[in-house]
Amino acid sequence: MRILFVASEGLPFSKTGGLADVVEALPKALVGLGHEVAVVLPRYRGTKASSVVVPSVTIPMGGTRLRFPSVADGTVINGVRYFFVDDPAYFDRDGLYGGAGGDYPDNAERYSEFCRTAIEIAKHVWRPDVIHCHDWQSALMPVLLRTSYGDDPLVRDIPVVFTIHNMGYHGLFGRDALDRAGIPAGIFHPTGIEFFGSVNFLKGGLVFSDYLTTVSRKYAQEIQTREYGYGLDGVVRGRADRLVGIINGVDYSVWSPEKDKFIAAKYSAKDLSGKHACKQDLLELFELPSENLAKPVIGIVSRFADQKGFDLIAERAHELMHEDLLLVVLGTGDRKYEELFRALAAAYPGRVGVKIAYDNAIAHKIEAGADMFLMPSRYEPCGLNQIYSLKYGTVPIVRATGGLDDTIEAFDIEHGTGTGFKFVDYSGAAMLRSVRQALHLFMDERIWRRIQLNGMAKDFSWKGSAAEYAKVYAAARTARGLPAITEAAPAPRNQKPVATSN
Ligand code: ADP
Ligand code: GLC
Repeated sequence: MRILFVASEGLPFSKTGGLADVVEALPKALVGLGHEVAVVLPRYRGTKASSVVVPSVTIPMGGTRLRFPSVADGTVINGVRYFFVDDPAYFDRDGLYGGAGGDYPDNAERYSEFCRTAIEIAKHVWRPDVIHCHDWQSALMPVLLRTSYGDDPLVRDIPVVFTIHNMGYHGLFGRDALDRAGIPAGIFHPTGIEFFGSVNFLKGGLVFSDYLTTVSRKYAQEIQTREYGYGLDGVVRGRADRLVGIINGVDYSVWSPEKDKFIAAKYSAKDLSGKHACKQDLLELFELPSENLAKPVIGIVSRFADQKGFDLIAERAHELMHEDLLLVVLGTGDRKYEELFRALAAAYPGRVGVKIAYDNAIAHKIEAGADMFLMPSRYEPCGLNQIYSLKYGTVPIVRATGGLDDTIEAFDIEHGTGTGFKFVDYSGAAMLRSVRQALHLFMDERIWRRIQLNGMAKDFSWKGSAAEYAKVYAAARTARGLPAITEAAPAPRNQKPVATSN
């Protein structure tokens, strides 16, 4: 099958969060299963392109306005074809979605142009059997395909699978966004793209796609409830028969202590001795004294957002630090959490190490060098760091929500089963109880080794999840009345890039 991914970020080109990991690894895994995959991304600042595929695409915005992005070629990596939507005025900026002053005010136009150009790519450059969109930034793709492009013989029947990576981000704009972004006014009603008087891109994706997926089974249930639905739970419930939860995988060629090129010493389940060197290296990096080496280190790598549960740490910070532990934190985002961790580092010198930064190498070093990994998320669609942690023998302490609940099994001392520590109540007290339980068992080397090895034995590679996505693609084709594509890789069709604008 030929699958066209449309997403606002993806490694190795751009990343702000786990979406980028998924947009790199899932296409690669699908290629491994014999499918053909192309990925459309915006060409952000610093993204290198090898050549121009289409020098000028004519994109209607609102009213009589036109824009003329080009389509750049991002070559083939791991068997996956990359295309960039290139419009420097929109995408060659400091940040992906915003800067210090908040979200860019023209995000509706930016991602409208992005989606429309992706449709033109599907028409003229790379013809797919199915389109796979991700989060609100690509949600106008299904909206436009079923409305503005509804009579277009080339694309009107292409099925769209839409993956919700996070229900907390809607792409919410004032009504004027209809005109600014060229969205048909006829769908501005509560069963269309309207959300209490505003334009809600995510809602458009939920309403107009053929199939919806989200990144864990638990989250697929949660988003149908008021507590987790962010006002869209009713829409999701209405489409429950077309909603599938598929857990994210891990690319173990990047995230495993046996292969990791960023860590001080490699190690494996057979021989964990390298982990000690990684811990030493981590303490040095965070300027924590080496006489603390025997103490348990709790690691955190995160976007600092309310979603991630740091208000629980704020609430219990001093009780937490009352325990005999070290805390190592890497993250950026919300100022109030940056302040929180800076203040903790100042209050507990030698025991709390904090780097307010986005740094992939340090993220790897924390996974390898910490003893425990803390994710007290208020909600977590999937979460990748806890899955990485398992492979590094770094025991996760998580709140039982979304993918955290699906991927981490509470340790059962009686049977020696389980991979980490979980708490259910969203409260500082519950979090603290789990941390204390972990610290207590950390004292017993034999038991701790059991928990580590249980985690390291888990396999969350992408192959199984990629096969589940392939089933959803097939179901989406059936749902649109299209014939099944039985062989994984069909004979290549006309792929010749066009040299002129559409
Ligand atoms: P989310 O997408 O909600 O941020 P995930 O757990 O799915 O959460 O993915 C986060 C990804 O971003 C992981 O690959 C993690 O290592 C990475 N990451 C988050 N914050 C940082 C940071 N400050 N520096 C480096 N990598 C980070
Ligand atoms: C989102 C979620 C995270 C998930 C990631 C990739 O950013 O917050 O839980 O792992 O997307 O699907």
